[in-house]
Amino acid sequence: MKRFLLALGLLVSCTAMASGPSAGRHGIAHGKFLVGFGACNDCHTPGWAEHGGKAPKDMLLTGGGTNFQGPWGTTYPINLRLYFHGITLKQWIHNARTVKARPAMPYWTFRYLSDKDLADIYAYVRSLGPAGKPAHDYVPPGQQAPAPYLKLVVPAGPPPLAGH
Ligand code: HEC
Repeated sequence: MKRFLLALGLLVSCTAMASGPSAGRHGIAHGKFLVGFGACNDCHTPGWAEHGGKAPKDMLLTGGGTNFQGPWGTTYPINLRLYFHGITLKQWIHNARTVKARPAMPYWTFRYLSDKDLADIYAYVRSLGPAGKPAHDYVPPGQQAPAPYLKLVVPAGPPPLAGH
């Protein structure tokens, strides 16, 4: 029993370490994988799609890559390098669990991530260091918004959630 408790204690402290701001090499590599496969660069890295999924390190996740205009107004993907630099891990996890961002931010994909996954994303983006300028602010519908942006023609309401 004592040995079990000791092992448990060790496990808990390892997990706590791995999910802390100083997540090690593996955490950062896993965060990079999640950001890559989660397609965050598609919208948050300028020129990413145009270059077939490549960008110099100083451009990665600096925001305003692919902007969107639709009935909600015009949205600019935020600079994630500055964002992660400016918040604590706790604030990031809280935001990821509660945020409802405007289109085309697929905030619902955070649902598939554990707190450890979110911590690894945090560690990876912070490991890149702060860079770039803040993205342009959101512009409400009907107001002049700086290009470039993808203009989306969408139906007035979403299709019904049949079978739910
Ligand atoms: C299809 C485009 C797209 C993809 C893919 C995308 N984002 Fe975004 N993201 C946006 C846009 C646009 C905004 C700004 C939304 C707004 O103005 O409300 C945004 C906003 C955010 C915000 C700020 C949310 C808030 O309001 O607090 C965070 C954090 C974020 N994205 C993280 C990510 C991460 C991490 C990934 C990858 C898992 C990702 N995004 C993938 C387009 C995208």
